[in-house]
Amino acid sequence: MQYTAYYRLGITPWEQYAEAAADDIGAMLDREEDGRGRPLGRALDLGCGRGVFSAELARRGWDVVGLDLVPKAIAAAEARSIAGASFVVGDVTGLESAGLGAFDFFLDVGCFQGLNAEQRAAYGKGVTALANPGASLLMLEFGPTRLRSVIGGVSEAEVREALPDWEPSSSAPAPTAGLGWPMNRTSPQWFRFTRP
Ligand SMILES: C[S@@+](CC[C@H](N)C(=O)[O-])C[C@H]1O[C@@H](n2cnc3c(N)ncnc32)[C@H](O)[C@@H]1O
Repeated sequence: MQYTAYYRLGITPWEQYAEAAADDIGAMLDREEDGRGRPLGRALDLGCGRGVFSAELARRGWDVVGLDLVPKAIAAAEARSIAGASFVVGDVTGLESAGLGAFDFFLDVGCFQGLNAEQRAAYGKGVTALANPGASLLMLEFGPTRLRSVIGGVSEAEVREALPDWEPSSSAPAPTAGLGWPMNRTSPQWFRFTRP
């Protein structure tokens, strides 16, 4: 997808989805934080865009790094001056060389779904390299449709294939409210993995 063009034109429909799905996403994050000690630890928001979820994670007490390929998105995230969050222009397929340190939690809302097979494998290698023992990875991604090349989408098998060193702990349907056509036909899914 041409995210640079989308940000340049101010077209960010995923932010409307973030608002519409806020309760569901909040519940997933509540579950993620249950039983964890405080402070919660370091979180990496993969494909953070303008920092919508980085801000939410920081508000909840995570020490957050938001990473995105598009400088304009990162500039907008930085302009929010979010206490507890920092932002970096970077590629989720090159995490090992990004010098970010290790993380306890990875969040990916809508980034992995746009990667090809080679990129997905590199992503998996990167999050594995950056994960502290016991880390978790929570992803919300479109499922594959005939329009996959335009709007992205991945199957559960493809997600698992990219993360061979992670333990799948749950998958569940995500809401479609707030998604316009054809995104509302993609059967978005939550996936959660843990790093043994
Ligand atoms: C659907 S948007 C979601 C943004 C944000 N997670 C949100 O929900 O507001 C996907 C984001 O992934 C970013 N992205 C796509 N490929 C990337 C890559 N290889 N490395 C880093 N970011 C990437 C895009 O620039 C875009 O901001």
